[in-house]
Amino acid sequence: MDDHPVLLAGHDLVKHFGPLQVLFGVDVQVRRGEALGIVGPNGAGKTTLFGVLAGTLPASAGSVHFEGRDIGALDAAQRCRAGIARTHQVPRPFLGMSVLDNVLVAAQHGAGRRGGAALALARGALEKSGLAPLATRPAATLGLLDRKRLELARALATQPRVLLLDEIGGGLTEAELLQLVALVAQLRRDGLTLVWIEHVLHALLKVIDRLVCMDAGSVLAEGEPHAVMADPRVVAAYLGGAAA
Ligand SMILES: Nc1ncnc2c1ncn2[C@@H]1O[C@H](COP(=O)(O)OP(=O)(O)O)[C@@H](O)[C@H]1O
Ligand SMILES: [Mg+2]
Repeated sequence: MDDHPVLLAGHDLVKHFGPLQVLFGVDVQVRRGEALGIVGPNGAGKTTLFGVLAGTLPASAGSVHFEGRDIGALDAAQRCRAGIARTHQVPRPFLGMSVLDNVLVAAQHGAGRRGGAALALARGALEKSGLAPLATRPAATLGLLDRKRLELARALATQPRVLLLDEIGGGLTEAELLQLVALVAQLRRDGLTLVWIEHVLHALLKVIDRLVCMDAGSVLAEGEPHAVMADPRVVAAYLGGAAA
């Protein structure tokens, strides 16, 4: 099982919110060890796709496989334990808790660790995210870059096999963004499989191997990142989005 070349796959995924259809039969494959980028105009369904893959949103139709196994029946907590972690577009720390305690909760609930093992996992995640010096700070006092780092640390503390990053670069200054890109690139070099939704293309292109472009709930194009960005359908989707 462990050598299955496709780690995470969604097949023919459909999602409705009541009468509103948001995903129209999306196929996506994440290969073991790769960094896959996802771009697309606002409202394309990118975050919804993450929700369906991670189990926070039930798919209306279609299937999700992880390491070759159909995980459609697993809820978000079970998928997290299996190794699927995500960050959220808007960071959601427990503001009243310290940075370390936030990450500890993730290690306990997401990785199922207790006591010293949870603490070691949390401290490791803080190191990887560059937050170790701020471990005792209340999360509420963090600036935006450090909140993004905390979001990353909480995901890492669940010991993911695949990490889904949802616009983690949004709202940062250029200098901050470069620091975040360096962190993500290091995770990539450490062998973590990544899927990264990001509007800031130049950041994405520093890390990813392959790119998927979504528009209006479908995959428009996928493949080598520069070729995808040059695809006339992708260019048209972006021009359409810019006018909106
Ligand atoms: N929980 C929800 N209930 C109803 N509509 C939603 C919900 N989540 C997202 N949508 C709608 O689904 C569409 C796709 O949203 P989203 O997946 O967030 O797109 P993206 O991340 O690509 O910007 C949008 O039209 C959005 O308003
Ligand atoms: Mg989104």
